[in-house]
Amino acid sequence: MEFDGDIARKTGSPSLLAVEAIKTQRAGEIGRSSGLFYVPKVISFDAGAGVLEFERLRGLVTLFDLAVKKDPRLFELLEKTGRALAAIHRQLVLPDEVKHELPPEWMGPADENVFIHGDLASINVCFHEPSRGLVILDWSAAPIMGRTPTFGSRFFDILWFACCIFRDVPAKRLLSWDAETMTDTFIRGYANASSEDKLSRFPDYLSKIYRLQRRKIRYLARRRSPVKAALYIFYQLFMYARLHTFLQNYKL
Ligand SMILES: Nc1ncnc2c1ncn2[C@@H]1O[C@H](COP(=O)(O)OP(=O)(O)O)[C@@H](O)[C@H]1O
Ligand SMILES: [Mg+2]
Repeated sequence: MEFDGDIARKTGSPSLLAVEAIKTQRAGEIGRSSGLFYVPKVISFDAGAGVLEFERLRGLVTLFDLAVKKDPRLFELLEKTGRALAAIHRQLVLPDEVKHELPPEWMGPADENVFIHGDLASINVCFHEPSRGLVILDWSAAPIMGRTPTFGSRFFDILWFACCIFRDVPAKRLLSWDAETMTDTFIRGYANASSEDKLSRFPDYLSKIYRLQRRKIRYLARRRSPVKAALYIFYQLFMYARLHTFLQNYKL
C-alpha cells in the first residue's frame, strides 16, 4: 500500500485486484446498510496497469494496536467485528465469475458456505478515530490460501481471526496477551448476530485450523534468522498450545 495525498494505492496482479475491487465495493454497501462498519471507497481501478486506488482514511488505528495499548475500547470493537462478519456472511454476494472456492477441506454443506472476507485479522480491522467507527480493510484472501478464494465455509473467517489473534502476540506480552477473551468476545458478537445453529459445526474445522496455524508459523519462522526463528517457534508453540486448549474446550 502506498499513499499519495488522499489516495491509498495498491499495485499487483490485475486479476486479484479486480476481485478485491468488487469485494470492497459490495462490502462497503453492506457496511453502510448495516451501520456496523465502513470500507474505504474504491476511487479507480486500472486493470492494464494493476493499480487499485482507494480513498485514504486518516486516523485509523488497527485493533491489533489497540490490543497492544490495552485500549479500553478494544472489546466493544471486537464484539462489533463479530457482528459485522455475521452481516458480511449473510449479505455478501459476488458475481459467478469471481466465485472462487476455498480448498475442498474448507467447503461445507450449502447452508454453511458464504462469500468470505478471506483475511480477517486484527491488523485488517481498524478503529477510525474521527468517526469513532469500525473500518474493515484488505478484501483479498490471505496469502496462505493463495489470495484467490472468495467462497467457502463461514468457519474459515471465524477461525482465521482467532488464529491471527493468538499468533500476533507481541513477544513481550506473552503472558499478558489475553487472546482467549479477545477471541471469545469476537465469536460471541458473531453468534449474537446469527441464528444458533450457524455455529454448530464449529468442531468439524478444528483440526483444519490447527494445521493451517502450524503451516503459517513454520512459514513465518523460515523468514527469520536461525536465532530469531528458534525464539519465535518457542513462543509460538506456547500460543499454539493455548489456542488448542481454548478451541477444544470452547462452548458458546
Ligand atoms: N484506505 C486506507 N486509508 C488509510 N490507510 C489504509 C487504507 N487502506 C489500507 N491502509 C493502511 O495500509 C495497511 C495495509 O493495507 P491492506 O489493505 O491491509 O494491504 P495489504 O494487502 O498490504 O495487507 C493497513 O493496515 C492500513 O494501515
Ligand atoms: Mg492487510
